[in-house]
Amino acid sequence: MSVRKILVTNALPYANGPIHMGHLLGYIQADIWVRAMRSLGHDVTYVCADDAHGTAIMLSAKNGGVTPEAYIASIQKEHENDFAAFNISFDHYDSTHSSENQARAEEIYLKNHKAGHIAVRPVTQLFDPEKQMFLSDRFIKGTCPKCNTEDQYGDACESCGTTYNAIELLNPRSTLSGSTPVEKSSDHYFFKLPDFNNYLQQWTRDQGRLPVSIANKLDEWFEAGLSDWDISRDAPYFGFEIPNAPNKYFYVWVDAPIGYMASFENYIKTKRPELSFDDYWKKDSKNEVYHFIGKDIVYFHALFWPAMLEGAGYRTPTALFVNGFLTVNGQKMSKSRGTFIKAATYKEHLNPEQLRYYFASKLSDKVEDSDLNLDDFIQKVNSDLVGKVINIASRCAKFINKDFNNILSKQCAEPELVQHFIDAGQQIMQSYESREFSTAIRQIMALADKANQYIDEKKPWALAKQEGQAQHVHDICSVGINLFRQLMVYLQPVLPTLASEVQQFLKLEHFHFASRETVLTDWEINTFTPLMQRVDKKAVDAMVDASKSSLTATEKPVAKAVKKSSKPAVKTPTTDEPIQIDDFFKVDLRVAKVLQANTVDGSDKLLQLTLDVGEPEPRNVFSGIRAQYAPEDLQDKLVVMVANLAPRKMRFGISNGMVLCAGDGIIISPATDAKPGDKVS
Ligand code: 2FM
Ligand code: ZN
Repeated sequence: MSVRKILVTNALPYANGPIHMGHLLGYIQADIWVRAMRSLGHDVTYVCADDAHGTAIMLSAKNGGVTPEAYIASIQKEHENDFAAFNISFDHYDSTHSSENQARAEEIYLKNHKAGHIAVRPVTQLFDPEKQMFLSDRFIKGTCPKCNTEDQYGDACESCGTTYNAIELLNPRSTLSGSTPVEKSSDHYFFKLPDFNNYLQQWTRDQGRLPVSIANKLDEWFEAGLSDWDISRDAPYFGFEIPNAPNKYFYVWVDAPIGYMASFENYIKTKRPELSFDDYWKKDSKNEVYHFIGKDIVYFHALFWPAMLEGAGYRTPTALFVNGFLTVNGQKMSKSRGTFIKAATYKEHLNPEQLRYYFASKLSDKVEDSDLNLDDFIQKVNSDLVGKVINIASRCAKFINKDFNNILSKQCAEPELVQHFIDAGQQIMQSYESREFSTAIRQIMALADKANQYIDEKKPWALAKQEGQAQHVHDICSVGINLFRQLMVYLQPVLPTLASEVQQFLKLEHFHFASRETVLTDWEINTFTPLMQRVDKKAVDAMVDASKSSLTATEKPVAKAVKKSSKPAVKTPTTDEPIQIDDFFKVDLRVAKVLQANTVDGSDKLLQLTLDVGEPEPRNVFSGIRAQYAPEDLQDKLVVMVANLAPRKMRFGISNGMVLCAGDGIIISPATDAKPGDKVS
């Protein structure tokens, strides 16, 4: 086998908050892949870093009364602790706020500048006169220009879904100072993305570069036309100053992916000087580079990043591996429900390897969302790991330890069975390599079932009570231990801590994939000790409770914590003026059935619904219920909709109607025997 040289990265977490379950899905996915590839003997370098720049981090540091440098250093420490607890085996962990990253960002920018890919032009934005800074959308609130709902952010209205420019908001205010922002113009630097239009269309369609569903999505963006990308931010900003542009800083998303390169460079410098940076990053490099990312940041990685690299004469990533979002108990993680679970809270109550196993059992190469269902988690871990895999060892080891002086039998009594387990490894590793982890787990558990069946049939516990059956018992239990060893070689990428404990129990040097081919005969093992506790429901409940109580004062009442505008509220008919019964009758309320529900790329609030309203054609409706419902929960559900609402053009498409919800976004359900198209009154 030829050894492949591979560089793997994970999305860099912002140095502005804790690692939580949603993050861990992507890190665990990448780590399992890295460990599997290492087990196959490939030379894999796995790096990451904290994404340390931007306005939000600058302001958090200020609020905390510390310098940004001190702030990001303390967050980085927490992140590294969390990753270590979950066995994420980075070779190197850095920060984007490093001199190497600064040098690399400047170089890439200047090369693109020289090649004519940078433009400068004035941009008018809202400016906070009190804080003396330009405001990004998230620091501006005001009244929606379309539907008059108050308290909306600078990019889109949560109530009616309209997207707008912050300047269009009515009664805008700065969420930083409460003052009324003013319009101000300043020069901005743009990366001319359209220069790379043809290059990117080809790049994104290259075989294996991107999941097909993502490449299709990108086609929509190409059709809509690429635009110049604003890569500068005015001072004050925590980041790197742009060369030859005083007081202009690189937007955080410029130097973030360059951080992949800089972290690798620092890894070479500090830990592996025999590697060459250019061998991995020069244009014609044959080494492989993979980025594991979430689907929300595809735009940056599939368009801006390869274009910047191409413009600067570097190679581009071999492929992007994209994962979906995580829901917990079928819904978006929620602080009040206790399902916004931080890595640190999880590890206080539960075993991190068990989460790795559960995620592995859910993940595939598809860009699908995954659900962490806590009851299913308990059931799956207890039944698969404790009930099946470890059970094999505990059933067999006790005889080897007690009756045979810890030495396995001199012969393999079931060579065919053991060979079947060895041969099955090829397919399992293939599943890992193609990131079909759920398939790998199914294949491994099918083997575990076979091993248990074998022991059940042979009944060594019964034979042990009979005269003259000792050799038989010895042989059966030695086969069982060999089968267990094969399973643990295959589970090692997912369960590295357990695997290393089993290595000690079996007195084996390592668990590399190829090592499985030697069958253990006449081999001394250690005395068996319990290898894993069952997941206790009480510990899960305690974790959920702790997640509720770890809410900070600022996190709790999100909406109410925002200072109300000092300006008089704009009157809206829905709250202030009574309507007449005839007005109400104008609203055509109908029963509709959800034919299909999908998440919407680029929106964490909306679901796209295809509704049967009893008309010849189904309707497309966008509804802001993503926090409350997973798409699969809505399949075939009956809802009430406003059927005669004028179609609205939204950023994601046309919404043709509105689904009615009550209270906290919970869908109003008609009677179960209602039919699509029935009128509701
Ligand atoms: O979305 C995020 O959390 C970013 N911090 C990811 C950056 S990935 C890379 F480009 F650096
Ligand atoms: Zn609105």
